[in-house]
Amino acid sequence: MKYRIFNTEVDYRMQKMYHLNLTKYQIKNSKIALIPGDPFRVPKICEEICKQYGGTNTEISWKREYRTSLCEIDNSTIVVTSSGIGGPSLSIAIEELAMLGIRTFIRIGTTSAIQGYISIGDVIITTGSVRMDGASKHYAPVEYPAVANYEIINSLINGAIKSQIQYHVGITASSDTFYPGQERSESFSNYVIKELRGNMQEWKRLNVLNYEMESSTLLTMCSVMGLRGGCITGVIGNRAYGENIQEDSLKLGENNGIKVAVASLEHILKTIL
Ligand code: URA
Repeated sequence: MKYRIFNTEVDYRMQKMYHLNLTKYQIKNSKIALIPGDPFRVPKICEEICKQYGGTNTEISWKREYRTSLCEIDNSTIVVTSSGIGGPSLSIAIEELAMLGIRTFIRIGTTSAIQGYISIGDVIITTGSVRMDGASKHYAPVEYPAVANYEIINSLINGAIKSQIQYHVGITASSDTFYPGQERSESFSNYVIKELRGNMQEWKRLNVLNYEMESSTLLTMCSVMGLRGGCITGVIGNRAYGENIQEDSLKLGENNGIKVAVASLEHILKTIL
């Protein structure tokens, strides 16, 4: 089997993508991918798809952080691929899935809110991201906005209403680091550099809703490459009340993000794809 990265032949239906270890043939002409960070969320998302729409799912690859399953419902095939944590590893997943024919990307993640009115288990639908990452700068200068596709935003809202889960729509701060970038001094060094000190208060004051680590890379890449991108995250903590992520909060936020994203597929498959 040839790897795409080392091969310039035009027909790469049978060539494996170097990192995802997938061929175009394997993903059966699918045009949409759901992208969690954690590989162990892939089967959870597939189970939710089968629960809401019926159909079947099959795991087709798992290499490093990139685990992929295919969900087949009625006439649609949905790819679910984990991206790992952060912009650099996510950028590889997006590049290779786009080369395989995927045109719509929805990140399903977890997040900590920074606004006091947001509760654990709510979901946040990102309209645009503060680009506190490095990977997106390899795709567009910093002045370029990291914005979500409006049709995907609409579909995610539709999914939240259908699921009866509280949702918030707005701006996300997307940071390369979990500790200093999100102003956590509960780290090994207990140190946050001067440039990042006070950033949580500042984003809060500027009506940013939450922190996560991948949306700025995803949304910048999708806009630059003419693809549809969206991001939904389930709230597992609220930094306005301190740092205390509990096991049951993680489960609730994770499950609600998945439920809403999967519910939004009905609208996406009917009206967009
Ligand atoms: N993901 C993040 O990046 N930050 C959090 O606080 C929770 C999830």
